Amino acid sequence: MNTRFDSYRETTPGRANVGDSPDLLAYYGRLSELGAGALWTVANKIEPWQPVPHSAPMIWRYLDLREAVLRALKLVSPEEAGRRVIYLANPNRQDVAAAVGWLYSGLQVMAPGECASSHRHSASALRFIMEGSGAFTNVDGHKMTLGRNDFVLTPNGTWHEHGVAENGTNCIWQDGLDIPLVNALEAGFYEVHPDLRQAISYPIDESSSMWGSPGLRPAGADWQRRYSPLLKYEWEPTYEALCRYAAVYDGSPFDAIHMDYVNPATGGPVMTTMGASIQMLRPGERTRAHREVGNFVYQCAKGSGWSIINGQRYDWSERDIFVVPSWTYHEHGNSSQTEDTCLFSFHDLPAMRALGLYRQEALGENGGHQPIT
Ligand SMILES: [Fe+2]
Ligand SMILES: [Fe+2]
Repeated sequence: MNTRFDSYRETTPGRANVGDSPDLLAYYGRLSELGAGALWTVANKIEPWQPVPHSAPMIWRYLDLREAVLRALKLVSPEEAGRRVIYLANPNRQDVAAAVGWLYSGLQVMAPGECASSHRHSASALRFIMEGSGAFTNVDGHKMTLGRNDFVLTPNGTWHEHGVAENGTNCIWQDGLDIPLVNALEAGFYEVHPDLRQAISYPIDESSSMWGSPGLRPAGADWQRRYSPLLKYEWEPTYEALCRYAAVYDGSPFDAIHMDYVNPATGGPVMTTMGASIQMLRPGERTRAHREVGNFVYQCAKGSGWSIINGQRYDWSERDIFVVPSWTYHEHGNSSQTEDTCLFSFHDLPAMRALGLYRQEALGENGGHQPIT
């Protein structure tokens, strides 16, 4: 038990600065018996001057992970496992199974002919397809075929199941969920579909056909749900959009050619808690350092480069995954002088913005901090 209550004292006016005394210690003891405490003993600890991320910056290299992920194919069936996933464990967030902050991520692997049972949960989910052919997902009866670098939504509350066609190959994709956040909010439900499978209620890839044309939306279409009606964002038009943007603008000094995946019905984020982005660094390009209130999980979708996160350099190439904790300076560079590189990322910015908590700040030329307006 902590018997020194003055360990969080600060001398700045306005902050708690109360020294221990025998009378106060006796008083704290009595408050504790009453199920209470004196705020000034903990105020400076529970209200830090700025966010204190507990997650470590980390990188998971696909060269190392891939073989281990494929081994799971022989060791456990999707029926036994429910979902055959190897999750990314941040050493400082093991207790909540987070990759960073309140975000979970894992690599799911399925063999041709396999299909995981249908289920739904309060956590929102997304996936980014890493390798293989023939993968599909069915979200509330909308069946979609999935290819390399496609980005797919499984919004909270939707029935969903994933599988690989008989004539496909072993498939690996990255899952991203807000499970730790939902659990922190004590708001999580999970249900297995009573039939373990759900019907296909719409034409295959109907959501992309209806909502996936840039700048166009079905006239008069009514969409009231709190997530995007476009459930799959295909790689080809995404990459083309980056190239077209890069041809006419320098982009952000902090994130280069940077685009958000959006809900085409609202222009807002794809889901209420998590968003996703794609960015391109042109040959030899290097960004400036900034930090944001929000947690980020990146996957290199194309090319190779490096990031400096909290002063440490991490080199990455295609399929490597790395994380940037909240309020942590980061900058990115493309290591090629001839090829562009692309980073997919998902993050909790929609939650931060909805709660009015978002901020960002640049690292100035002289090391000073500059608010970004
Ligand atoms: Fe799920
Ligand atoms: Fe950034």
